[in-house]
Amino acid sequence: MKITKCAALLAAILGTAGFAGGAVANDTLADFHGENMECDSCHLESGELSNDSLTYENEQCVSCHGTLAEVAEGNTRKNYNAHESHFPGDVACTACHAGHEKSVNYCDSCHSFEFDMPYSAKWERYEPSIAELAKDAADRKAALAADPAATVDVLVVGSGGAGFAAAVAAHDKGAKVMLIEKEPVIGGNAKLAAGGMNAAWTDQQKAKDIKDSVESMYKDTMKGGRNLNQPELVEILTGNSKSSVDWLTSLGADLNDIGRMGGASANRSHRPTGGAGVGAHVIQVLYDNAVKRDIDLRMNTRGVEVLKEGGKVKGLLVKGKYKGYYWVKADAVIMATGGFGKNNDRVASYDPKLKGFISTNQPGATGDGLDVAGNAGAGMTDVQYIQAHPTLSVKGGVMVTEAVRGNGAILVNREGKRFVNEITTRDKAAAAILKQTGKTAYLIFDDSVRNSLKKINKYIKLGVVPTAESPEALGKLEGIDGKALAATIAQYNKLVASGKDTDFERPNLPRALNEGNYYAIEVTPGVHHTMGGVSIDKNSGILTEDKKAIPGFYGAGEVTGGVHGANRLGGNAISDIITFGKLAGENAAKYSKQ
Ligand code: FAD
Ligand code: SIN
Repeated sequence: MKITKCAALLAAILGTAGFAGGAVANDTLADFHGENMECDSCHLESGELSNDSLTYENEQCVSCHGTLAEVAEGNTRKNYNAHESHFPGDVACTACHAGHEKSVNYCDSCHSFEFDMPYSAKWERYEPSIAELAKDAADRKAALAADPAATVDVLVVGSGGAGFAAAVAAHDKGAKVMLIEKEPVIGGNAKLAAGGMNAAWTDQQKAKDIKDSVESMYKDTMKGGRNLNQPELVEILTGNSKSSVDWLTSLGADLNDIGRMGGASANRSHRPTGGAGVGAHVIQVLYDNAVKRDIDLRMNTRGVEVLKEGGKVKGLLVKGKYKGYYWVKADAVIMATGGFGKNNDRVASYDPKLKGFISTNQPGATGDGLDVAGNAGAGMTDVQYIQAHPTLSVKGGVMVTEAVRGNGAILVNREGKRFVNEITTRDKAAAAILKQTGKTAYLIFDDSVRNSLKKINKYIKLGVVPTAESPEALGKLEGIDGKALAATIAQYNKLVASGKDTDFERPNLPRALNEGNYYAIEVTPGVHHTMGGVSIDKNSGILTEDKKAIPGFYGAGEVTGGVHGANRLGGNAISDIITFGKLAGENAAKYSKQ
């Protein structure tokens, strides 16, 4: 960025108060900047966009306005500070702030907060499906007739936890790796993960004297999945959970806090010290490791078609948002494209009960991977099993982690009464909430629960957690029967003192609710996890419908099926994506060397 132009821009911003939400005459950010700057202040001298990731353009925003944290510091809003985001990785200003068209608030793809971003329009996105991209036949043919734009050993599709784990592991086994992501920001659903990563018999558990075993994690996982899980995949999940935690720790992760999630018979959900969200941290660690290894990471780049020759994978046709179609030669392709929880049409086609449900997922969770892999001959497992998360906040659309219940919160209905074991499996908890008045319930907790989990302060900061000094006052504030709520809390505290929940058989009673202020979050279930997907074997190799391996084709994470059966346990997905992501990366690298 040219300093003089930068200074002129800042003067303009301060002069017009454009960024503080005042009245502005221009329609787009480029109009506004154009008054004081030239094209090459944002773009390369050539006028071309730098690449699909918009690396150069994003850098120009930062050079003028500062990093996300620096911009966030200047924010004067009471609650929602968009720049204080949970997004890991490099700053992608252009994910929200478009130049020549209306800007969109990327956070609005999940949340619904009042926020007046300059030059913005309402969030909406039309993404043609993989099938619809057939209309680009001429462009695709031309791209395939040309030389490959790049040659790698292993090409990873999707920058969630499975994708990054695969990329780092493949690199460390000697492969040249490229990782592509169709969204403008990294991390997929993985960056949103809150409650933890399940693992059994870890050093972290031992340090806290928590008794657990691989066998017990195996049993819980099978029981939670209604015994429809594939046992050989669950053996890999549970048998490797400790080494996956160790691997992440060796890469720089902090997984020292441990709590309970639904359906677990021990505290085995690992997360950063103090109870911060696990996903953004793990993704940041993996991203930093990928950058350190100089892995070619391409954003806004969609995997469209797996290319094969003689039955073996030979590369991938991709579509860059700005560069269009090109192909990458690769010995092995790893599908790590996540689930399809954000694609309600697809969800409802498998489970009509979920039609119109809101979702906890990021916008890229549309299920491309099922189509791309299916077109390349992959078989499917368990796609009909789709999970709702019980506690999405009615206000703001924030998924409130199960860890809040695990650390002691109770669920009550509008009548102020408990109605379920709060840490039962989430299929049961969600079904119970849907039976209550208004199909919502309230998570109730006190300051001792609040202080046990850092993540709760985030929800409070977002303004979605009403608080009062007493249960009665809280009830009045939220339209809950306050007298009944006070009686329910008193009864719950008695159960905690007795050490046994004779009312709902909740297996863990970590603390009484009698400290400081009381809090309530109104919650309702939302589509959360898609258990099914492409069929894989014990090597993370993708299988055809008749269970034959497709040479050079691997899959890991939520795009696959079989690990979780009919219902995934909270905390088991992060374990799944790290274990199978690493396995897929290592095996793909080994295959590419053959
Ligand atoms: P993702 O992380 O979703 O990554 C897939 C990536 O692929 C996405 O970035 C997507 O945009 C990209 N992609 C898709 N199609 C294409 C394409 N065609 N080309 C290029 N890129 C593509 N699980 C736990 O175990 N513990 C938790 O605490 C937890 N909390 C959660 C909280 C929330 C709000 C949500 C939504 C989920 C949570 N989960 C949790 C579940 C868990 O986060 C996911 O199941 C897991 O992260 C999936 O990882 P993944 O790598 O398979 O997919
Ligand atoms: C949560 O933190 O409640 C979500 C955990 C999960 O999906 O495993």
